[in-house]
Amino acid sequence: MRDSDYHFIRSLVYERSRINLGPDKRELVAARLGKRLRAMQLSSISDYCSYLRTAEAHDEIANLIDAISTNHTFFFREEHHFEFLRTTALPELAGRWRAERWPALRVWSAACSSGEEPYSLAITLAETLPALAPDLPWRIDATDISHRVLERARMAIYGEGIAGHVPSALVQKYFQCGFGPQAGNYRVKPCLQEHVVFSHLNLIDGPFPFTEQFHVIVCRNVMIYFDRPTQEDLVAKLMRQLVPGGYLLVGHSESLTGIRHSLVLLAPAIYRRPPAAKI
Ligand SMILES: C[S@@+](CC[C@H](N)C(=O)[O-])C[C@H]1O[C@@H](n2cnc3c(N)ncnc32)[C@H](O)[C@@H]1O
Repeated sequence: MRDSDYHFIRSLVYERSRINLGPDKRELVAARLGKRLRAMQLSSISDYCSYLRTAEAHDEIANLIDAISTNHTFFFREEHHFEFLRTTALPELAGRWRAERWPALRVWSAACSSGEEPYSLAITLAETLPALAPDLPWRIDATDISHRVLERARMAIYGEGIAGHVPSALVQKYFQCGFGPQAGNYRVKPCLQEHVVFSHLNLIDGPFPFTEQFHVIVCRNVMIYFDRPTQEDLVAKLMRQLVPGGYLLVGHSESLTGIRHSLVLLAPAIYRRPPAAKI
């Protein structure tokens, strides 16, 4: 790939997603663009860059971000977060709900990739809340910049690899086992799907579109791709989107050390908005 093409792709990806591609990612980018070139029947990255400069390239820029972004995820990734929800956050929030009577418990999986994270949250809530507050309605908003992963998340079909991450009793309870051409696949049951709403959202675009605040925000393994000023802006926006006393869970390699914020660190990668935080 020519220097000028790599520079152009880097700047475009940064401008649209804040994903910060270092000079060491050049080969990875070239490999991932191969798929786009084939899809568009173009013979060189320079031709692809020329197309991206045209007025009609809007949809292709979304495909470019899709191709570049890393969507790796799995069920119950970073299990200590789910343990924290079960043992600490949900009992505390259920107690507050009894006193404050919010219409629903609201959780946001920001950068949800193909759905494993929000469905893991849904299983955790479905397993925990009935004993704490059986009448408490709950809803999970799940968003991502990538249309491709959102499509997979909405289909809610996963391969047999889930058995390595989801205990078999929970697989039986919350997944339908495929047969015939779907043998080996598992579909999330409607009783979970009905609680999870997927939508497209670029975390770095303006203010968030939500009118209500969340009790828990899970924003994991995405900030790692952003530079420090972007991380700082995002954390400030996430904090404003939390109810006072709400929880923010970040990826274990995304400590907020060095970022200005007013959240309270409760445990590694677990933060809380103070009850009356000044923002
Ligand atoms: C590595 S996955 C993490 C998925 C999940 N949160 C987890 O921890 O397993 C990162 C996700 O962030 C999404 N992403 C990257 N930049 C984004 C942005 N600016 N806004 C929203 N999502 C973004 C990618 O599409 C990808 O699905």
